Amino acid sequence: MNEIVIKQNLAPNVWLMGIYSPQVAKKAKPGQFVILRVTENGERIPLTIADFDNEKGIVYIIFQVVGKTTSLLSQLNPGDRIIDFVGPLGMPYEHSPEDKDYLFIAGGLGIPAIFSKVKMLHSEGKNIDIIIGGRSKENIFFEDELKKYCNNLYISTNDGSYGKKGFVTDILKELLESGRRYDEIFAVGPVPMMKAVVDITKRFSIKTLVSLNPIMVDGTGMCGGCRVKIGNEVKFACVDGPIFNGFEVDFDGLMKRNSYYQDVENISYKEHKCKIGLGE
Ligand SMILES: Cc1cc2nc3c(=O)[nH]c(=O)nc-3n(C[C@H](O)[C@H](O)[C@H](O)COP(=O)(O)OP(=O)(O)OC[C@H]3O[C@@H](n4cnc5c(N)ncnc54)[C@H](O)[C@@H]3O)c2cc1C
Ligand code: FES
Repeated sequence: MNEIVIKQNLAPNVWLMGIYSPQVAKKAKPGQFVILRVTENGERIPLTIADFDNEKGIVYIIFQVVGKTTSLLSQLNPGDRIIDFVGPLGMPYEHSPEDKDYLFIAGGLGIPAIFSKVKMLHSEGKNIDIIIGGRSKENIFFEDELKKYCNNLYISTNDGSYGKKGFVTDILKELLESGRRYDEIFAVGPVPMMKAVVDITKRFSIKTLVSLNPIMVDGTGMCGGCRVKIGNEVKFACVDGPIFNGFEVDFDGLMKRNSYYQDVENISYKEHKCKIGLGE
């Protein structure tokens, strides 16, 4: 159980892994995530279920190495096991059957959160456009996989080395200003990016969902570590979300909370790097 069966490098520091976990694969729905632990004394980190194969019992994750735990995970190989692999967690992404036109926007590591939903909506015959963006050409991945399931795939890079130069929001603005309309827009990526998307879509009154990434600990609603302000209410992203109506999210509050542990994280990553090769 929890054996890594597939490992693939998608971009610098970005990995796709397939994990044999039939219980999670059987119940998973688009929009949900797992919480995993890599070592006995390790922390629990949330990662989105990027895709799942119910018949083979495989759950796919795509992750970026940003600190200690994701670095340890990236050092595992097919045949290795992940100690804890808990899920599926969170509320699935529900869509209304009447909606026909969808725009998905994935900035940075947003692709895992859109992929399985894009596949599902494509199989239901919906019209799907996708915008993906990254820092430069080498950070763009999954282009061919996404193209199979959408009508138009737009790409932006900050330095202009691939696709349109600029941000995903530049393409969004162009599409909407040219008169293109969608029944629903779903945006996932860094918090400032989601905030910028919502600032634009609000002007056009287009329903916009976002998937939030606050710090999580248990992932089952027991601690409130993941709390976010939605409208006038406090919600726990791990049980009430992680998907919320973008027009109601307090993005500034979320950014502040996400930076609370930055010093500890930097120290922990630095110490871990110093010990690489010592078997710890
Ligand atoms: C619902 C959800 C789904 C996510 N899905 C993905 C995904 O599919 N792919 C992916 O690459 N990343 C995803 N993340 C982010 C991922 O959890 C963090 O990158 C990871 O926890 C970093 O751990 P670390 O020890 O390597 O780095 P650290 O050095 O601990 O942290 C680096 C940064 O990661 C974030 N982070 C750290 N700990 C947590 C935590 N317990 N919960 C949430 N964020 C944390 C913080 O912003 C921090 O500044 C998701 C986060 C959430 C909440
Ligand atoms: S992570 Fe503890 S309540 Fe959400």
